[in-house]
Order: sequence, then C-alpha cells, then structure tokens
Amino acid sequence: MPTFTVFKGHESGAPKKETTTKPDELSGDQVFVRITASGLCGTDMHYRKAHVGLGHEGIGIVEKTGPLCKVLKTGDRVGWGYNHSFCGRCRECLTGNDIYCSERALYGFADLDQGSFGSHAVWREVALYKIPDSMSDEIAAPLQCAGATVFSALQTYNTQSSETVGIMGVGGLGHLAIQFASKFGCRVVVLSGSESKKDEALRLGAHEFVATRGKTELKVSQPIDRLLVTTSFQPNWEQILPILSPRATIYPLSVSEGDFSIPNNLVLINGITIQGSCVASRLTHERMLEFADLHQIKPIVQLFDMTEEGILDAMEKLDQGKVHFRAVLKPVA
Ligand SMILES: NC(=O)c1ccc[n+]([C@@H]2O[C@H](COP(=O)([O-])OP(=O)(O)OC[C@H]3O[C@@H](n4cnc5c(N)ncnc54)[C@H](OP(=O)(O)O)[C@@H]3O)[C@@H](O)[C@H]2O)c1
Ligand SMILES: [Zn+2]
Ligand SMILES: [Zn+2]
Repeated sequence: MPTFTVFKGHESGAPKKETTTKPDELSGDQVFVRITASGLCGTDMHYRKAHVGLGHEGIGIVEKTGPLCKVLKTGDRVGWGYNHSFCGRCRECLTGNDIYCSERALYGFADLDQGSFGSHAVWREVALYKIPDSMSDEIAAPLQCAGATVFSALQTYNTQSSETVGIMGVGGLGHLAIQFASKFGCRVVVLSGSESKKDEALRLGAHEFVATRGKTELKVSQPIDRLLVTTSFQPNWEQILPILSPRATIYPLSVSEGDFSIPNNLVLINGITIQGSCVASRLTHERMLEFADLHQIKPIVQLFDMTEEGILDAMEKLDQGKVHFRAVLKPVA
C-alpha cells in the first residue's frame, strides 16, 4: 500500500501534515506522481479550514503508470490543475468543453484525500499535462490553474488582437493575464487598487495602468472591450461599467460566496455580456502551455517550503496581499 504525505486544511486555519494510503496496484489509467512543486492559488484559501487535500497547481515526476496508460511513462514531468477527471463521452467532452463535464472531478469536490501539497498523488493520465522541457517546475506550477484560467478566458471566447482588454487585480491570475493578453496582441489596461504595482504591470506588457481605490470616476484612453476580473473580492461595478465599451464582455473570474450583484440597467442599456468561466478544458490547457513556452510567459514566483510552516507562511502572506506574485511550494531536500 503506497502511503504518502498530504497537507490538508484544518479548522485552525493552519494546514496539517497527514498521510493518504492508496491500493498497492494502480488501476486503469492511474499514474503515481512524485510532487516537485505546487503553486498556491487564491482558491486554496477557501479550503484552508476544510479537511481536504490542498493544492491544485501541481508539477511532478511520473513514478509508475497503470495498465491502461497510453502516453506517459516513468520519469516524465507532468502538471495538473483544477479538474482531475472527465468522462470523454458527454456533449461537453465531445465538444472540447470537458471542464464542464457532468462527471468532472474538481478540486475541493472530489479526490479529497490528496492534492498538490504533499509528497505524491495518484491521478488519471487524461488529467495530466506534459511540461515543456524549457520550463522549470516553479515556473510551470502557477500555469496549471492561474495561467490556464486567464488564457482560457481570452482564447475560448475569441479575443481579437485589435481589442482593448482590461485586467482587474494584479495577483497570481492578473499578472499572468497581463502577459497573455499582451502576447495576444491586445491593448492592455490594468486596473489595480493602488499605484504600487504600476511599474511591474507596464513591464509585464500593460499599455495603461489605472489605480482604482478611493476614486468615484475612472478614466481610460480607450473603452475596454473585454474585462478579466481577477480580484479576490467582487469589484465595485458602478465604478467599472462606465469605462467599458458598448457590448463589452466581463469575465468575473473571482470565486466568492453569495450572489453576483451588478447594476441591472447599465448592463442592459449597454448590451454587456457577463461570461462565467472555469479554469480550462484539456485542449485549452495544452495550448496554454505551448503558447507560454513560445512567448516565454513566466510567472513571477516567491518560493516557500512544502512543510506545515511553509504553507502557513505562504497562506498568511497571500491573505495579507504580500505575495509577489505567486507563492510556489517546493519539497525540502
Ligand atoms: N474562475 C476560475 O476558474 C478561477 C481560477 C483560479 C482562481 N480563481 C479566483 O480568482 C481570484 C484571484 O485569484 P489569485 O490566485 O490571483 O489571488 P491573488 O493572488 O490573491 O490576487 C488577487 C488580487 O486581488 C486584489 N485584491 C486583494 N484584496 C482585495 C480586496 N479586498 N478587494 C479587492 N481586490 C483585492 C489584489 O490586486 P490589486 O492589488 O492589483 O488590486 C490581489 O493581487 C480568487 O477569487 C480565486 O479564487 C478563479
Ligand atoms: Zn486555482
Ligand atoms: Zn464528459
């Protein structure tokens, strides 16, 4: 029985080291992976006090493959993200929208005994992605959720290079969204709480930077056609709607409890589309890795130890807005 370390959320808010035991023999297309790095996503903060295996931006090395594995072999370097399985037969799967499969296995809802914070994990081959050789583990890890999510919002809904894309929030998702949108060829406008991230946002590819806190009216040189909202809290829509172009699309990517609330009349009078979007389907995830490799899109990471202390430290820094821009946990040698 392979027994390995996992880190689970705990009611105290301080994640705890535990063990998970899996059957001796791998079945079907299961793959046994040794974890070499994991990003810490804003969504992990919602599970901090839940007794579930934490982490969904994993990178690791294949140690063993099940009898039905067709692609991966021992020694391959792989990544995985928010969805761990899909059926391959339903309408969503057959149209390449497997992230919406009725049999999907999402982080926090399924496979609660393991995550990407730990020593090892067992995942299906279909939910693992080969990592380009040029990408280090810590660079590849944040792409598995943050990168996939923002690339998918841009790619799936056919963003055009002639459009102005707004990125609201410069955190793990936002700092990657600036890079992807800029490499899509778009004009990129960043909306951030304060001026403090301005220089870095411009360096990452933004063309314009707007600090939002305390302002009743925002000014942009061109209205925004698509707005990716990557803040960890719902923004002030009254402030944002006036700087969108007519028929603009908003992608409210933030995970937050409660209802979605937005001024009704401003939405209808301007023909605004509100487009929900969950991480990425398999093909989009693969394309994201190719695109990031080709254009050398790299997260800016801050390293922490894959230990109880390291995870708690990273979570507290993320909570206080002190992570620059993605925390990545690595096993201690
Ligand atoms: N839809 C999906 O599939 C999906 C996938 C992954 C994550 N998410 C969600 O996306 C959100 C961002 O995740 P992340 O990992 O990028 O988090 P993050 O690194 O904490 O970044 C969030 C950013 O939000 C802004 N912010 C912080 N506190 C705020 C507050 N009180 N009010 C308004 N804005 C605040 C900050 O940007 P500024 O300093 O620039 O203002 C911060 O950098 C989370 O809600 C996460 O759960 C969704
Ligand atoms: Zn995530
Ligand atoms: Zn399906």
